[in-house]
Amino acid sequence: MTKRQQRTLLTTLFIMVCTMASTAQAVDTRKAVWLTADEREVVLIEMRNFLRGSQQVLEHSLNEDMKMVERTAKPLGLKMLKNLPKELKEDMPPSFFAMFKTLHYGFAEIADISKSPTANSKVVLQKLANMQKLCVSCHATYQLKVKK
Ligand code: HEC
Repeated sequence: MTKRQQRTLLTTLFIMVCTMASTAQAVDTRKAVWLTADEREVVLIEMRNFLRGSQQVLEHSLNEDMKMVERTAKPLGLKMLKNLPKELKEDMPPSFFAMFKTLHYGFAEIADISKSPTANSKVVLQKLANMQKLCVSCHATYQLKVKK
């Protein structure tokens, strides 16, 4: 083996070991929220709605289209919260549910702000940025698990 081949082999081995180490360390230490398989599906559907909703609120606000902001935000507000199955609400840890609720109230507030004839898109964008801190902190704190 030439010196060059040796160096390549060593580099490859080094990279392999590093990757293995980082995979081994990737243990999910976030708090578990135990739900039934159906309840987990409902939460994940809500999440995808949250993602789509925040993208649309962002885009419509940038276009100063406050009517569309209201139309996007309203269904994600209190109605969606009210329609959640009672058992699911009971299975959520209180601090998890509190963040979840705050997010729905946030969308309801965005809908209210956008309804006004003097609605200011900057105010909506600021509100959305604050709400996204909730997405970030909840995702950093919790994971969903299916109870048997
Ligand atoms: C109350 C806590 C909480 C809040 C607030 C929250 N999420 Fe989530 N979200 C979760 C959890 C828990 C998961 C599942 C993560 C896991 O189990 O690894 C999740 C998963 C997701 C997923 C993946 C969905 C899928 O199909 O797998 C998306 C997308 C998502 N969230 C978007 C958002 C967005 C956008 C926001 C803010 C507007 C948000 N979430 C706010 C807790 C939250």
